[in-house]
Amino acid sequence: MLKITTMISYLLIVTNITLFANEEAKEMIKEAECMSCHNKEDFKPTPKKNFTKLHTSVQACQLANDAGWFDDETLDVSRYLNKIYYKYEEKN
Ligand code: HEC
Repeated sequence: MLKITTMISYLLIVTNITLFANEEAKEMIKEAECMSCHNKEDFKPTPKKNFTKLHTSVQACQLANDAGWFDDETLDVSRYLNKIYYKYEEKN
């Protein structure tokens, strides 16, 4: 019984962290005005690209536009874009 309760709590915590990271990424994209240049159609997977390349693009764009994101925040945004749009296999 205790085990099940522990497992459920764990699942809830993990789900919450994931949801929080998503919300955070959405908010960051809004604040950095990423969508002033992009639309959803820009975020399409291509055979020559992968998660690492996507992450490099996100990093380049956040630097070029002075978003001032920390590395872990940039990674959160890359993961978010990947989860919603690209669906590359994530290695890091
Ligand atoms: C001033 C315009 C501009 C802004 C603002 C901008 N980008 Fe970009 N972004 C570009 C251009 C130009 C490219 C290169 C397009 C190409 O690959 O040909 C690009 C490429 C990308 C790509 C790669 C697209 C792909 O799949 O090849 C991603 C992801 C991306 N940007 C994310 C972001 C994020 C996140 C932000 C907000 C920090 C942002 N961009 C803000 C202009 C912009």
